[in-house]
Amino acid sequence: LAPKCYSLAQLVQTAKRTSILLGAGISAPILPTFRGQHGLWTKNAHKNTKADAKVSDGLQPTLAHEGLVALEKAGFIHYVATQNYDDLSSRSGFPEHKLSELHGNIFVETCDDCHKVFHRDFEVPKDDSLEHETGRHCEDCGGILRDSIIHFEEDLPEPSLTKAMNKFAESDLIIVVGSSLKVEPAAGLPFSNKHTTTTTRQSSKRDVNTCIVNLQPTGYDSQADLIIHGTCDQVIDAVAKELLGNNWR
Ligand code: APR
Ligand code: ZN
Repeated sequence: LAPKCYSLAQLVQTAKRTSILLGAGISAPILPTFRGQHGLWTKNAHKNTKADAKVSDGLQPTLAHEGLVALEKAGFIHYVATQNYDDLSSRSGFPEHKLSELHGNIFVETCDDCHKVFHRDFEVPKDDSLEHETGRHCEDCGGILRDSIIHFEEDLPEPSLTKAMNKFAESDLIIVVGSSLKVEPAAGLPFSNKHTTTTTRQSSKRDVNTCIVNLQPTGYDSQADLIIHGTCDQVIDAVAKELLGNNWR
């Protein structure tokens, strides 16, 4: 594992812009994932299980979350798109302007009328029978408040999807951290601009390196330049130690 983490650290060191796609694997030490060995759905194996990982407000970010914050502070991270709605990336202190929560955030609700976004310190109540309505009203304008979770059949909010596409397109290193890459369009984002243009019988790829850090193989492994089968904590800790020193924490 160590040599591959060293290679990843080298890639981060030399990259101009490194972007990250986060999945449930990064929060696995404290929250169940959906798929994979101990995944919520792996165990009871039917999709309609309400997989709302209960995110109580006592949860603390993992070592890997903290490692990403330290790397960002040192200027090594350009942007993070997370598929997780557990609030742990923003709670770890990752700067908001560099973070897109593609599938929403269990602590965030928005007003239908004035469109204000409220980041609460409690889990926003959800009443699915009311189509995302929380049954509560905006304190600014009285409008209906809705939760921000994106369900399978729903489209991702345009602004965050467009931002993610643009940020990944301008990155020369993209790292997937703890995702089975099973849910589109998020899963394909890191690979979407890996276009090849055939010029004079040889194809030239856009100079972007992609790395997948995950405990299990994914459907995108064949498109990745580097695959590291390890835990997010182990790998991010090793990269942070390499680039920031042993006591980065
Ligand atoms: N370190 C690294 N990888 C891990 C760890 C760990 N400690 N623990 C589990 N994994 C891997 C699992 O092997 C699995 O492949 O993390 C991956 C998590 O995959 P999923 O549970 O499918 O989570 P994710 O890819 O984020 O799911 C995407 O699906 O349910 C919807 O909207 C929900 O955002 C979620 C989306
Ligand atoms: Zn309002």
